[in-house]
Amino acid sequence: MTRFIVLALVAASTLAYAGNGRWVANAKSRGVVRFDVTGPIDDVAGETRTLAGVLDFEPERWPAGSGVVVVPLNSITTGIDERDGDMRAEFLETRRFPNAVLTIDSITAPTTALAAGGHAEGEVKGSFELHGIRRVIGFKLKAKLDDSGTRLEVSGGFPITLADYNIARPQRLFFKLGETAQVTFMVTFKRSDGDPAPAPQAAAVKPAEPEPSLAPTVTEVKPAAAKPKPPPARKPPRKLLVTYLFPGGDAKAKGERLFHAPELGGPDNKLTCFHCHAKTDERAGFVQKDGFVRPADSLYNAGQRPSFWNGFATNLGAASAICQKQYMKGEGLTAEQAEQLTAFIDAISPDPAPALDYGLTYRSMDSALRDPLGGDIARGKKLADTFCMICHLDGRVAPVWAPGLYEPEWVVRRVRRLDGHQNLQMPNFTITRLPDSDLRDIVTYLTSPKSEAPIFNRQKRLAAGKETP
Ligand code: HEC
Ligand code: HEC
Repeated sequence: MTRFIVLALVAASTLAYAGNGRWVANAKSRGVVRFDVTGPIDDVAGETRTLAGVLDFEPERWPAGSGVVVVPLNSITTGIDERDGDMRAEFLETRRFPNAVLTIDSITAPTTALAAGGHAEGEVKGSFELHGIRRVIGFKLKAKLDDSGTRLEVSGGFPITLADYNIARPQRLFFKLGETAQVTFMVTFKRSDGDPAPAPQAAAVKPAEPEPSLAPTVTEVKPAAAKPKPPPARKPPRKLLVTYLFPGGDAKAKGERLFHAPELGGPDNKLTCFHCHAKTDERAGFVQKDGFVRPADSLYNAGQRPSFWNGFATNLGAASAICQKQYMKGEGLTAEQAEQLTAFIDAISPDPAPALDYGLTYRSMDSALRDPLGGDIARGKKLADTFCMICHLDGRVAPVWAPGLYEPEWVVRRVRRLDGHQNLQMPNFTITRLPDSDLRDIVTYLTSPKSEAPIFNRQKRLAAGKETP
């Protein structure tokens, strides 16, 4: 349910700058607003392209400009539906406070005229309304006028401290997340030829919706808050340790490079074979030199297995293509790629080996974790670093985790690939590689602090009628 709210100028600014040209931004113009909450370990980024704005602005004396941009907070998405629902309900309370409203009251700038095709920078004084609080803010604004002089791109950003807007960070959702959010926006305004006010996008307005608000909803403007603390420094993310066994240009060397190449998969794939398979003997233990355990078996000696994928593939090329399609968003391997990968895997297969035991995989997929919250949080964090972070490191695969948000059963479903798991690229871990006793610790960590009531249990809230789907 997106409550799309049209906005207009703050009355005062309209009077002050009457006669200025009017510029509008709406759902059809290009624009994006982002909220980034950074923390020592995890980040959450929310984004929306649903916004509306008005500027009173003459390029010839642009610092006299003023305006408003409104963002319906229900339209912000973070990439995870469950988290979005909870963020709206518990964190931003969008039912009570549906919009974020940015007003520009005055601009101080070194240049007074903005020519077509030119750009300029200025210092804005204005206010920002969020969660029922409106505060004075100041920030740097960039303005760019296109060659025709009819489109104006305005961009800028500012940090806010969540507590200054009375936003409590629920422990469960933002476990270890930062206290500040960086707001960034880029909005394209179009010169409007005497339109009285920007028309709301027809489809977005529901007939039953109340008349849209034409100004910030909060009248009291609180003084500017203290400058937010810089986000805490974080350790540089651990990296995959890639060392090549086969330099040179023959088939096996090329195959090894493919083994480490995300480009082998589909356009936005970031995973490589090496995220899931080691290439060395795992008899000494599952933990590789880089400190990570791979979810799938090492391909060491795989070249001498009699069959693959429980008999579904009879050669290495076909077996690898299954992975490339299933986990790497690919559309199959070329004959040459299959040949090179085969040459590489053969080269790391000195000894005969039996086929893998897929009975173990099936057994793992019918195990429901007993007492999923009876684990050890600290141990769970360490185990997650070892078993999960090879992929869940910053930016490697979407999304970045939000510990505290998850329901235990759901994490188990993902890790074991149980029915309804919604995994696309995430593989399963078998009960041999990641026994239930370890998974229990990880689940406890991801759903901790366990002593707290599960306030993010959306199903419960829905059932109790506290939320609409
Ligand atoms: C997201 C994880 C993932 C990625 C990426 C991945 N695989 Fe796999 N692969 C698996 C899983 C899980 C299996 C099932 C058997 C196991 O657990 O090892 C498997 C099975 C295989 C098998 C058959 C093993 C057997 O004996 O049945 C081969 C060969 C293989 N992968 C090669 C590759 C190659 C080459 C790549 C890169 C092009 C690749 N895989 C990428 C997860 C992955
Ligand atoms: C080989 C890469 C890989 C490994 C290893 C991995 N994951 Fe994932 N995980 C993913 C991907 C990719 C997604 C996004 C969904 C998808 O595409 O499957 C994901 C999604 C998730 C999600 C959902 C996140 C959200 O907010 O929606 C959870 C929870 C999760 N993984 C838990 C784990 C746990 C626990 C481990 C370790 C035991 C783990 N993952 C190991 C790749 C991986």
